[in-house]
Amino acid sequence: MSLNFSHPLWDTFQKDLESAGDVASLSEVRDRYLSRTKGLISLEMKQLGKLSPEERPVAGQRLNLLKNAVLESLDQALEVLKKTEADSRLGRERLDVTLPGHEFRSGSVHPIRRIWQEMEPIFVGMGFQVVEGPEIESDFYNFEALNIPESHPARNDQDTFYITPHTLLRTHTSPAQVRTMEKQAPPIRIVVPGRVYRRDAVDATHSPMFHQVEGLLVDRNVTMADLKGTLECFFRALFSPDTGVRLRPSYFPFVEPGAEVDISCPFCSGRGCRVCKKSGWIEILGAGMVHPRVLTMGGIDPEQYTGYAWGMGIDRIAMLKYQIDDLRLLFENDIRFLRQF
Ligand code: PHE
Repeated sequence: MSLNFSHPLWDTFQKDLESAGDVASLSEVRDRYLSRTKGLISLEMKQLGKLSPEERPVAGQRLNLLKNAVLESLDQALEVLKKTEADSRLGRERLDVTLPGHEFRSGSVHPIRRIWQEMEPIFVGMGFQVVEGPEIESDFYNFEALNIPESHPARNDQDTFYITPHTLLRTHTSPAQVRTMEKQAPPIRIVVPGRVYRRDAVDATHSPMFHQVEGLLVDRNVTMADLKGTLECFFRALFSPDTGVRLRPSYFPFVEPGAEVDISCPFCSGRGCRVCKKSGWIEILGAGMVHPRVLTMGGIDPEQYTGYAWGMGIDRIAMLKYQIDDLRLLFENDIRFLRQF
């Protein structure tokens, strides 16, 4: 842009324009020259009235030309600035869509939760209801109501975590038996999964916290054969259709008769291997017919009803199913271990 006559404001304007490096300072320049009240050109226009009638039109025309030239220069400069600002923003914000993405690792289901997700539908399919009981228990439900005598070693504080003299961390899921009987009339068909606690030192097969699932069925004419059949059905669904179940006589104060239950070793199909210590069988749970005193404690008449109960270790079953040889792996939460599930 040029002006075909000289004017001192044009010269200063050119310098100001040159030094305006961004849109904001450009608009300052615009105000300095063109603002209606304080603009340098506007002020000169106001002076025109002081000139003689001969000088006035010439000077007025020159100021108009100057004003138009200033306006035009400002517009051009603004356009250039806007373009360079846009270009540099595009440069800065460039996305390379061919770059590899960030790896996103999804979490996985913990083996204890996963084995329960396999076990639960089998029990539910057989008509059991899933219920839960408190981990902080009274000695009444954990021992007393289960016919466990005062002198029983499990009551010792060497074996049980006591919170107060009569409150403790449940040592098994069996307290849910009497809790359920109190609330519900037969027929009762429940499974109770959850954490249990014992004062055991940690090693490959022991942990002060582990998981059990209690089973309880109370109805008319329930027999030991129902217990065996139910467990067989369960383990065949969980392991394989040729899984064998055997009962050995055992003692728990809250059942009579009581039994330890073994399943045929899922690793060698009973032929004998390292896991089953060449016996072909693996001890998997404790069970029995609910003791008449326990039924009575739960408000159920033992003359009319019988029932069976079991308590099985969930961790142990997970270890067998997923071939984990050290219980500690389940609780250390080493991410390399957990990722395999
Ligand atoms: N509560 C027993 C335990 O933890 C297992 C069990 C439950 C045995 C029910 C018989 C009946 O060892």
